[in-house]
Amino acid sequence: MDYSFHIDADISKAETLPSSFYRNPEVFEALKQSIFYKSWQWVGSTQEIKDTSNSHPFILLDGFLTEPMLLTKDTDEVIYCLTNVCTHRGNLLINTPRKTKKIVCGYHGRRFALNGKFEHMPEFKETQDFPRLCDSLHQFPLRKWGPFLFAGLNPSFDFQDVIDSMNERVGFLPLDEFKLDKSRNKEYMVNAHWALYCDNYLEGFHIPFVHEGLDAALDYGSYDTILYDHCTLQIGYAKESEAVFELPAGHPDFEKQVAAYYYWVFPNMMFNFYPWGVSINLVQPLHMKKTKVSFMSYVYKENKLDKGAGSGLDKVELEDEEVVEGVQKGVQSHFYKAGRFSPTREKGVHHFHKLLAQFLNA
Ligand code: FES
Ligand SMILES: [Fe+2]
Repeated sequence: MDYSFHIDADISKAETLPSSFYRNPEVFEALKQSIFYKSWQWVGSTQEIKDTSNSHPFILLDGFLTEPMLLTKDTDEVIYCLTNVCTHRGNLLINTPRKTKKIVCGYHGRRFALNGKFEHMPEFKETQDFPRLCDSLHQFPLRKWGPFLFAGLNPSFDFQDVIDSMNERVGFLPLDEFKLDKSRNKEYMVNAHWALYCDNYLEGFHIPFVHEGLDAALDYGSYDTILYDHCTLQIGYAKESEAVFELPAGHPDFEKQVAAYYYWVFPNMMFNFYPWGVSINLVQPLHMKKTKVSFMSYVYKENKLDKGAGSGLDKVELEDEEVVEGVQKGVQSHFYKAGRFSPTREKGVHHFHKLLAQFLNA
């Protein structure tokens, strides 16, 4: 089956991805290898691995990639992201977060250092050519942005470039002081393809039509979209100066009334910075028509919560879900093939579709 899609680089000539992209189960499956293995995923924050618990197991994109992984921190304070699968016969190594000096498999006692290096295996003296390099635990590349951790399975680009792009505008914020407010954690189940959820996020075009409340806070006329290689920034400017960032001198938007920096990172992560902190949205594919979206709020200025564009996030989310689920039904129609783009309002969606096509065709 040919999965090649073509998105014209000229937005004024381009068509959107065809409905088959969202409908074909083989394409959905191909996205794992061609996109999710080749990019970066959120794997947690430094708050998950403390001195009292230095090994943290998790399943990456459970129900989709379902990859058992492990974060560890050794005595040198270095954090590692490892496979959580024993190199002997494939047992899971660590099942619950714990404090440990070594990683020891509970099945036949194979032992690894916290950096994944093979150390010992009982009854293997006569095994020839052992241990080999591959008897150590596979180590995944890991990048740290403030307290946030990202790993790639087999990434085709460096996440540091994405971090550098985001830091151009939000690097002045004290990310290490941001605290997760668990009471604001929320999970949404959306009956739609994960890419439709991202498509919707990537344009502010729908704000006046779909989000009455948000529209009242934002100046739609000056809403801006900036494209980076694997990342997109949308800037929402405030109508009034009540809930805006205090930007330092020398900042690219110094003296502008910025209400929100909406960063999307290819393929499925969103970092929405508001004057109170950041709302992180992780878009996790489950099935072709089902997506889990996890919201986490890291707060650093509590007195700015519940004001302006960064307030009423639940209402905005439900409004978005309604249209995204409508599109999910619409792209099943045999009379819908593909659409066109607004060059002024849909640059972000065009960029996303180009990236999807490029990764799928690679
Ligand atoms: S599976 Fe781990 S030691 Fe055998
Ligand atoms: Fe929206």
